[in-house]
Amino acid sequence: MTPVIVRTRAELAAARTGVEGTLALVPTMGALHEGHRSLIRRAREIAGTVAVSVFVNPLQFGPNEDFDRYPRTFADDVEACAAEGVSIVFAPSVDVMYPAEPQVTLKSGPMGARVEGVTRPGHFDGMLTVVLKLLNLVRPDVAVFGEKDAQQLAMIRRMVADLNVPVEVVGAPTVREPDGLALSSRNRYLTETDRSTALALSRALRAGADAVPDGPSAVVKAARAVLDGAGPALHLDYIVLVDPATFLEVSDAHTGPAVLAVAARVGTTHLIDNTPLEFPKEH
Ligand code: PAJ
Repeated sequence: MTPVIVRTRAELAAARTGVEGTLALVPTMGALHEGHRSLIRRAREIAGTVAVSVFVNPLQFGPNEDFDRYPRTFADDVEACAAEGVSIVFAPSVDVMYPAEPQVTLKSGPMGARVEGVTRPGHFDGMLTVVLKLLNLVRPDVAVFGEKDAQQLAMIRRMVADLNVPVEVVGAPTVREPDGLALSSRNRYLTETDRSTALALSRALRAGADAVPDGPSAVVKAARAVLDGAGPALHLDYIVLVDPATFLEVSDAHTGPAVLAVAARVGTTHLIDNTPLEFPKEH
């Protein structure tokens, strides 16, 4: 199936009118890989029609981040969408999304200033603003997001709850390379040497997961030991064990679900990864 490609609000509205039954949206910034494709497949299980948005959102990039060099592979993205049975690809220009300098934008609140928000101030404000705009434009019944960006997913769930956005948010698990590296559009920035350094992130998460029976501080300690051993090519931003809904760090007495989240710079590339964990009652 060839998806219809819509670029303007009017074209999108026309395509939206033709949708019968439930519609799922998978928001992306393009450079689609197997992780994105797994979200599309999840969306197809849930809804009769799937729309994918492809928009590199300037509002969520900091002044020294990679907005200009972010990979743009639109022809391949459309091919991937066609192969996955996507009906609508919404690929607006910056002018379509932001016809004027926006004056009213979302504030991501305390959660947006934590963890990833420390190294990327304003990032979650810009991300939430564009996600809400995309939801308002496409009006899907369901929106699917990856657990790869666990804090983003938590913030979107919170926005939807706090602002009564009429959409069901669905999370989907992280897709990895066979050696553990989480798929990311930014992986294509990595040299061969960078890539092997980057494997420390997923190795650290596995070491952390293995330490769950010894409790929260043992988990962070085990993960940190792996990252410390990765050498000077890896600049660690954080390794934290947090509550999945608030991204507040958990105490050593914590039981129930938690997320072990890591961020590091390898070369010039900012990488994040995380794993969901469950702490049993007795530990
Ligand atoms: P982007 O980085 O393109 O990611 C789009 C979606 O794909 C997000 O929900 C992300 O969590 C998911 N994803 C990325 N890598 C994944 C992997 N390895 N496994 C599973 N899912 C993965 O996230 C964004 O774009 C933007 O912030 C966006 C939400 C589109 C707003 O601009």
